[in-house]
Amino acid sequence: MTATLLFVIAAYLIGSISFAVVMSRAFGLSDPRTYGSKNPGATNVLRSGNKKAAIATLIGDGVKGWFAVWLAIRLADQYGVTDAGVALVALAVFLGHLWPVFFRFVGGKGVATALGVLVGLNPWLGLATLVTWLAVAYAFRYSSLAALIAALFAPFYYGLLFGVDEKLFAVVAMCMLLAWRHGKNIGNLIAGKESRIGSKSAPAA
Ligand code: G3P
Repeated sequence: MTATLLFVIAAYLIGSISFAVVMSRAFGLSDPRTYGSKNPGATNVLRSGNKKAAIATLIGDGVKGWFAVWLAIRLADQYGVTDAGVALVALAVFLGHLWPVFFRFVGGKGVATALGVLVGLNPWLGLATLVTWLAVAYAFRYSSLAALIAALFAPFYYGLLFGVDEKLFAVVAMCMLLAWRHGKNIGNLIAGKESRIGSKSAPAA
């Protein structure tokens, strides 16, 4: 129980590292919370025009989600972390990204981190979700729409692969939070004002 709590706290702290801010500083760019959609995420960092910083953000935010879950699963037997404990770890790293303790609780929308979490839970689950994101992004060129549709499908992919268990509830909660964080994007999509991938402009946040 204590070990599980420590894993959950560690996951939240790992999730709190906002790679959009860290990489922007490392690449000498403006803080992503000050331009575009003001979202500290890879899509918005791309609006700076620096593709390398955007890719580094994507990788950093994805790897942190994967690492927290992978570590909990890897050490589960040794430290008595149950499936419910792994589910809490998955949720904690995602919550850290959304409300990071290191950045005044102003975090991102969680797309890359959610993908990392799904890969950590199971690579096939992550791959199926990534392929969904890529297909929608390729067809419509909206990062947000791709994320929303991928988030809609992810729980079904999990259910098909593993049935209903504690981790499915974490996946559902994560995807619902992700969709909620995209409220403005949904409004912009409906109004035809959402910016497409690669466009440097974004509707007012
Ligand atoms: O990565 C988040 C993406 O789905 C939307 O980002 O900056 O266009 O609101 P943004």
